Amino acid sequence: MTTPSPVQLDNAMVTIIEAAMRAPSSHNTQPWRFRVDDFGVHLYADRTRALPVNDPFDRELTMSCACVLFHIRVAAAAQGIASDVFVLPNPADPDHLATVKLHRGDYSVTDASLIAAIAARHTYRKAFEPQQIPEATLDKLCAAAAQEGAWLAILSGEQVRHDTAALVAEGDAIHWANPSWRRELAAWMHPRRQGDGLTIPWLAAPFAQMIVRTFDRGDGIGAKDRQIADDSPLLAVLGTTADETEDWMSAGQALARVLLLAAHHDIQASFLNQPVQISELRPKLQSLVGHPGYPQIVLRMGYVAGKLPITPRRPLHEVVDAH
Ligand SMILES: Cc1cc2nc3c(=O)[nH]c(=O)nc-3n(C[C@H](O)[C@H](O)[C@H](O)COP(=O)(O)O)c2cc1C
Repeated sequence: MTTPSPVQLDNAMVTIIEAAMRAPSSHNTQPWRFRVDDFGVHLYADRTRALPVNDPFDRELTMSCACVLFHIRVAAAAQGIASDVFVLPNPADPDHLATVKLHRGDYSVTDASLIAAIAARHTYRKAFEPQQIPEATLDKLCAAAAQEGAWLAILSGEQVRHDTAALVAEGDAIHWANPSWRRELAAWMHPRRQGDGLTIPWLAAPFAQMIVRTFDRGDGIGAKDRQIADDSPLLAVLGTTADETEDWMSAGQALARVLLLAAHHDIQASFLNQPVQISELRPKLQSLVGHPGYPQIVLRMGYVAGKLPITPRRPLHEVVDAH
């Protein structure tokens, strides 16, 4: 192994962190902070942005941060910079999720060609085009997850797909019946200028928040999600062998690799995570998937027509701490 030599981080680091922050996060909470030093960047969980009802164990929060970590690796590689990643480097500080040492070494382990996919990837919540995804592309997506220490199971049988869609609808009903869950969702419905959250037009914001806080729309949303899941060209579950923080770090990096590789092939995804979020549904999902281990993320994927809106992000100065 070559001895790491420091690189000029100023401009390079701005480019890297801006690309990293395009990563997906639950409710677009962007629950991360960065600390930059002469050798690279430290990634921290910002638990003031946690979703205690939707994500009581911070599993999705950790995976969101791990998505950022994979984006850092891609953005660095695209500039010819290698990243040595140390996950959970400080046992005394569980918020310190990763240290990334950047140096002029072998960066080929992260696919630099995924850089263009960072801008092209979006969460797409509408119906996909009916076109099927070729088998060869599915194999590549599964290999991408495996490369990061996770697995991606494609749900191919009609019955399995149908039962998974039904579990999603059951999850919607449970979420929406819980006023605390609705209040938490409403609190993250923000006007676009705020730079985070689930964007809604400014004038409609208080009204939309009031509707979400007040009414249990579980039946209608469940029926819609069930239909959209049933009709999606691809349903897949990303999972890990174990279910500790380090596994969530692997799952998040795998998720980002899968999503970026998909976008590279003009495929977009959206999340149907309700059966993982609700503890009592998770074992049912696990037995449907039939893969040993722990489901972490449920995705549907397909081709989309037209351009997709860009979701907001916070400005760099709000998330980067000096030395
Ligand atoms: C771990 C994780 C869980 C997510 N869960 C959901 C979900 O259950 N439902 C959903 O519609 N979007 C979900 N999302 C997508 C986010 O809402 C989305 O990433 C965020 O709004 C930013 O938009 P973008 O992905 O288009 O950049 C999830 C994202 C991550 C990383």
